[in-house]
Amino acid sequence: MSSDSTKGPTEWGEGRHGVGPWEQRYPGQPLPADPRYDAELLAEGDRRNVVDAYRYWSREAIVADIDTRRHPLHIAIENFENDANIGTVVRTANAFAVDTVHIVGRRRWNRRGAMVTDRYQHLMHHPDVHSLLVWALRNDLTVVSIDNTPGAVPLETVELPRECLLLFGQEGPGISPEAAEGSLMTCSIAQFGSTRSINAGVAAGIAMHTWVRQHADLGRSW
Ligand SMILES: C[S@@+](CC[C@H](N)C(=O)[O-])C[C@H]1O[C@@H](n2cnc3c(N)ncnc32)[C@H](O)[C@@H]1O
Repeated sequence: MSSDSTKGPTEWGEGRHGVGPWEQRYPGQPLPADPRYDAELLAEGDRRNVVDAYRYWSREAIVADIDTRRHPLHIAIENFENDANIGTVVRTANAFAVDTVHIVGRRRWNRRGAMVTDRYQHLMHHPDVHSLLVWALRNDLTVVSIDNTPGAVPLETVELPRECLLLFGQEGPGISPEAAEGSLMTCSIAQFGSTRSINAGVAAGIAMHTWVRQHADLGRSW
């Protein structure tokens, strides 16, 4: 945890990456006039956890740039018991340029695992599963639940819809019956060991990458 008490969880990952002030990095070169660059970052350096292509860019400019190429993939996670995995889900969703991460149930979630990526990721809250399903219907998204419940189809064998909302359950109860009923299908991730299930954040990463392998243009990855 940061020793700086003025900083919150979304700043804890800062400081270990990045570049110093523009003047030190490019001695003698004029400051870029491009409005995407942030004056404070140019002057003080950019220690944020962002890819090099975005060095010195303002947060707004980075979000706007990702917005031009976000995938038609949405992620939802049920949060009725304050699930600790949501930060991990948000971070992975950001890495894969997911359109929006939907939090269903409680509004509060532990941001630490997000490692600041929540600032660059569209997030939406829904009070219950019904609201999420209505929103998905209105936005022409096919809902696919991910859980290893009886009757689930192996994720390894399905072609996921391109305009897709992947819905995850939480530690303990797993996916709610309402979520499963409102989905086109439920997909399971094949397991071979003794544990009943894998961590929800890990499951979300596997499922998102399954969508990426099937639908993303790999020529546009970093
Ligand atoms: C830890 S699991 C709990 C529920 C699990 N069904 C059980 O019987 O214990 C929490 C969430 O992680 C995801 N998950 C974990 N393991 C999975 C697997 N093998 N296949 C698909 N989803 C999985 C699902 O979204 C699930 O709702």
